[in-house]
Amino acid sequence: MSIPWSKMALNTPSSVVRDMLQAAQAPGMISLAGGLPAQSSFPVEAIRDAYQQVFMSGAAALQYAETEGYRPLRAKIAERLESKGIPASPDHMLLTTGSQQSIDLVCRILLDPGDSVLVESPTYLAALQVIHSYQAESHGVACDEEGMLPESLEEQLKQHQPKLVYINPTFSNPSGKVWSRTRRQQAVDLCRKYGVLILEDDPYGEIRFNPEQLDAPSLVELDAASYDGPSNVIYTSTFSKTVAPGLRTGWILASADIVKIAARAKQGADLHSSSIDQRALHALLETFDLDGHIRSISKDYAKRMNNMTSLMKKKAWEGITWNSPQGGMFLWLELPEAMAASNLFTYGIQEKVCIVPGDSFYAGTPELNRMRINFTHTDPEQLPEAVERMDRAIQRWHAAVQSDTALTL
Ligand SMILES: Cc1ncc(COP(=O)(O)O)c(C=O)c1O
Repeated sequence: MSIPWSKMALNTPSSVVRDMLQAAQAPGMISLAGGLPAQSSFPVEAIRDAYQQVFMSGAAALQYAETEGYRPLRAKIAERLESKGIPASPDHMLLTTGSQQSIDLVCRILLDPGDSVLVESPTYLAALQVIHSYQAESHGVACDEEGMLPESLEEQLKQHQPKLVYINPTFSNPSGKVWSRTRRQQAVDLCRKYGVLILEDDPYGEIRFNPEQLDAPSLVELDAASYDGPSNVIYTSTFSKTVAPGLRTGWILASADIVKIAARAKQGADLHSSSIDQRALHALLETFDLDGHIRSISKDYAKRMNNMTSLMKKKAWEGITWNSPQGGMFLWLELPEAMAASNLFTYGIQEKVCIVPGDSFYAGTPELNRMRINFTHTDPEQLPEAVERMDRAIQRWHAAVQSDTALTL
């Protein structure tokens, strides 16, 4: 029997990165591909104690619970957000099964087939996957180092009349860039002008290598400071990068209407996210120094990044450049024009190192000579070997090009 797939199923391609992560499972492979935090950073004992405390408190944690999520945890998150200047309250919050679910719920309640969403160029590829699953179109807005170019944003707002602008403005995945304050304000103003909602996805904003140097207020804060009434910015973040992704806990902060309708959509998806995990996170936040923990992860990640980039620099690869992110988890490389990152990926797999070609991170025409590597997951002792393997993959590419040239001569 042929399976009568829905349009949604047919419009949900397999994530390229997921497929690559499978390739990365091969024995002996060093993977720089996934967006995984360092496993050594997980506060295992503190999490274990928090779960123990939840179990000691009786059976309530095992019962069905409200869709919006465990209220004391919402209150704790709101308190943390407020301390960082983001106006927040538990009534404007919905706990989700990670920010990936936040993206899905926001798209589910806003998008009809044929609708448009504007995204950065490049953008988070699993957001593109969600947008396309709802049969909506994604359009890339031109960006530079400071964020979306306001002229390009305004032009696309006029041309596509989108329902949503999806952005990841602080240590973006994949480019690692941080939008300037001016660009954030311009995006807020333009979206207000054209009556379009912004989804600010912020999983990496707290992983800062030089916190004192960063002037990157949330768009929620800028929107609230400039305009009265319900927020035009839907904000999502997660404990995946600051505590552990296995806890699958994120949140949406938005105007009351959006939270209400997103909660309705969530009821249909999974009733509510795990109550035990939410209660354990709440217990953890009561006693654990999360800010201190984030400072220490950030220090460790900065060291890993510096180590990786100095190993790469020593190789003096001709025509290959990269950014120096001030936080987050990724390096974004630019290869010589003729060097397609997908070819490098293939040579990398042969050399047992896995990288992600950049082409899947674009809504429109991709830049084929871009690639993303993660510096947080690989064991620091394996980094020199990872760079040696990348070097061999690059040499293979050069050798193949030379032999092609020889053939055509
Ligand atoms: C930009 C971005 N948004 C959302 C997510 C999903 O995170 P979560 O584990 O909270 O679902 C990721 C994960 O890597 C990400 O990079």
